[in-house]
Amino acid sequence: MKKYLINTSGCQANELDSEKISWVLDTMGYESTQDKEQADIILFNTCAVRKSAEDKVFGQLGELKELKRRKPEVILGICGCMMQREDIREFFLSKHKHIDLVFGTNNIHKLPQLISRQIETGKTIVDIIEDTREIDENIDAHRKYSYKAFVDIMYGCDNFCTYCIVPYTRGRERSREPETIIMEISKLVESGVKEVTLLGQNVNSYGKTLHMDYSFPDLLKDINEIEGLERIRFMTSHPKDFTERLIQAYVELDKLSPHLHLPVQSGSNRVLKMMNRKYTREEYLEKINAIKERLPNLAITTDIIVGFPGETEEDFQDTIDLVRDVEFDSAFTFLYSIRDGTIAAKIEEQVPDQIKHERFQRLLDTLHPIGLKLNQKLLGTIQKVLVEEVSKNDSRVMSGRTESAKLVHFPGGEELIGKIVNVRIDNVKTFTLEGEMID
Ligand code: 5AD
Ligand code: SF4
Repeated sequence: MKKYLINTSGCQANELDSEKISWVLDTMGYESTQDKEQADIILFNTCAVRKSAEDKVFGQLGELKELKRRKPEVILGICGCMMQREDIREFFLSKHKHIDLVFGTNNIHKLPQLISRQIETGKTIVDIIEDTREIDENIDAHRKYSYKAFVDIMYGCDNFCTYCIVPYTRGRERSREPETIIMEISKLVESGVKEVTLLGQNVNSYGKTLHMDYSFPDLLKDINEIEGLERIRFMTSHPKDFTERLIQAYVELDKLSPHLHLPVQSGSNRVLKMMNRKYTREEYLEKINAIKERLPNLAITTDIIVGFPGETEEDFQDTIDLVRDVEFDSAFTFLYSIRDGTIAAKIEEQVPDQIKHERFQRLLDTLHPIGLKLNQKLLGTIQKVLVEEVSKNDSRVMSGRTESAKLVHFPGGEELIGKIVNVRIDNVKTFTLEGEMID
């Protein structure tokens, strides 16, 4: 049997795309491997959000030159967000002549054709669909886990935050039909899935491209009705579209995880404006306070960018103050990375690297004690944990997540994977909880 290896970078959308690519390759009779020496196809599913991810893949491709010399029949491919950008694509193809196949985020369904064309001609095949309003519903995904799954509810993004390359790689926003999403989740639940994570760049604007009056809270309500499903999560939402109706959904829907990931990016109104985020720090805080009032046990997480062009010490202090006000459970923190083709890349006043790094460290020093303090509140509580896998550090310890998505370690065996168990929290750290399973 021929074998394939997929190397995935980036966000959950890319992880799910890799599961879709796996499914297509499985249907072609290929089998997955982790060993590049055994692989007949090696694919890099790339991310374009930050330059560092680009550099890493560039290096990894370079390392495969030698393998390709020894085994010229191996098909070496790159796909994903980076390949949607002509400038990056051309750069890669000009520097790495041993690449055989290039495709993008909109043509995974064409993979069988592209592979046969490559094998027949021996030439480098490049196939990109720049933008599309189409959604291909004939493609399934080879799910990595049996008990949890990502489900796309929409594609693309129309927000054009000035730092972000996503609207230029994943195209215009388009929503899947609710019936199709519900059918997919029902099938997943029948096969044993307990938790779904709904994916979209901005799930709060779900439904805008549908020709009916149906929005994200309606979708959540319908998914909540699916019998056998235990947990619903979603990623990611934009504060400008966060509504009272969504708060209501959190209150009413028993399966909706008490966790909100609401990327703020900056606490400074001046920077938020330059980022084209379309909300102020006051509006953000108002929305957070409104939901906290109704759901005191909600975990709140965010994304923050440090060193956006023109960010002053005062702007950065506004971010620190906002972090203290909100008290985030945790945050994904990013050093601003220049992405050619975006509006922010043209701003001349870039923040020097040293200042960026120093601010980044101060941000972490602010976030971590807050995270620890919030975790300490959970000491002695009983948490419902979906057991995910054997801990990476100790084979006698299991890892899982609470309803609010916090990582928990506790002693247990592999037979618990995929089950929801009660764990008493006995010890907490900044990023993890520890405890004991109880009946
Ligand atoms: N530089 C740094 N971080 C970025 N993000 C998006 N674009 C950039 C960039 N150019 C971050 C944002 C977004 C997350 C997925 O990645 O915080 O929410
Ligand atoms: Fe990028 Fe902004 Fe769209 Fe998120 S909402 S994908 S940050 S443009």
